[in-house]
Amino acid sequence: MKILVTGGTGYIGSHTCVELLNEGYEVVIVDNFSNSKPEVTEKIKKITNKDIKFYKGDVCSRELIEKIFNENEIDGVIHFAGYKAVGESVKKPLMYYQNNLESTINLLDVMQNHNCKTFIFSSSATVYGIQDTPKYVETMERRKQSNPYGRTKSMIEQILEDLYTSDNSWNITLLRYFNPVGSHESGLLGDDPSGIPNNLMPYILRVSTHQLEKLTIFGRDYETPDGTCIRDYIHVVDLAKGHLKALKHAKENPSNLYIYNLGSGKGISVQEMVDTFEKVNNLKLNYVYGERRAGDLPEYYADANKALKELNWKTEKTLEDMCKDSYNFAINSKSE
Ligand code: NAD
Ligand code: UFG
Repeated sequence: MKILVTGGTGYIGSHTCVELLNEGYEVVIVDNFSNSKPEVTEKIKKITNKDIKFYKGDVCSRELIEKIFNENEIDGVIHFAGYKAVGESVKKPLMYYQNNLESTINLLDVMQNHNCKTFIFSSSATVYGIQDTPKYVETMERRKQSNPYGRTKSMIEQILEDLYTSDNSWNITLLRYFNPVGSHESGLLGDDPSGIPNNLMPYILRVSTHQLEKLTIFGRDYETPDGTCIRDYIHVVDLAKGHLKALKHAKENPSNLYIYNLGSGKGISVQEMVDTFEKVNNLKLNYVYGERRAGDLPEYYADANKALKELNWKTEKTLEDMCKDSYNFAINSKSE
């Protein structure tokens, strides 16, 4: 089976390409390197000892996507390409709506013309907005998201639902990721945002490698056991494997629209993350407690039962693995 992976040199995309290649899929990547580096393709090849076909360019380009479909018999698409920085999306909403929506619509239109109708979309737990309970289950309605990035995910989910309603020969899977962290065990792939990171683990990594002075834990007065926020962190390799399960499921159950949470089902606090990182990597992190960050919810995590029941998928890696593998990548990339 030949899979087109958009955004395949990005953080989650690159890990998913490795798992796809290891399972014998053929992989075609398209990426414009707006948030990744060309050398990632070589790293994927090095880890897997397999070849990939790569197109450099923009998923918003009709011409490029047509060319890819004309030159390859694509059986299905995993669509990772998109912008993902929450804060930036507040400052540059048009850039976010343009890139995330246009790339998706363009891709779907070309797929339809080529009668390729298996589509897996990178959605996010952010589409749940604020719910009445912290455990998010797929049957909950999407609620108001707090930023343009989140709204692009919610809008794309809606577009995909409308598309499926119009033509139910599509096979669409919406995967709602919780908080991906960790890296491939080789230390070659990982999350390496440019500039000062916003997310917890990349920030911890910069502090642990002395590229940033100290971490601020945002808020210690939440109504949680230790007062810090709770999230559902998922190792990126587990997350990548979830995509393979979704592809297999799509092949066995054609023509439908499915929604799955991809999370561990377990909430971890910021304090627990910091403590575990220190312990498994045998180091001390320089950190302070600061004000709450605007827009943060105190607690949420996945109900991961549907993915277990229908995809036969669950997370296997531990919080210790996430901390160890993340640090390994940070050390490795610093010495490159
Ligand atoms: P990433 O930025 O590392 O990867 C995205 C890739 O897409 C990058 O390589 C970038 O260069 C590429 N890209 C962006 N726009 C493009 C375009 N128009 N044409 C071609 N390439 C383009 O991000 P990631 O963390 O790997 O996330 C992948 C997907 O998962 C995104 O859609 C993101 O919104 C979603 N997601 C991520 C998280 C997270 O916390 N990392 C959580 C939920 C959902
Ligand atoms: N945090 C800190 N200090 C930091 C960075 C983060 O204390 O320097 C805390 C945050 O306050 C939060 C937790 O660490 O409590 C996790 O924050 P992240 O920024 O890593 O992740 P979020 O849960 O805020 O958001 C992430 C992605 C979004 C996505 C959402 C979906 O960044 O894109 O998960 O669940 F929509």
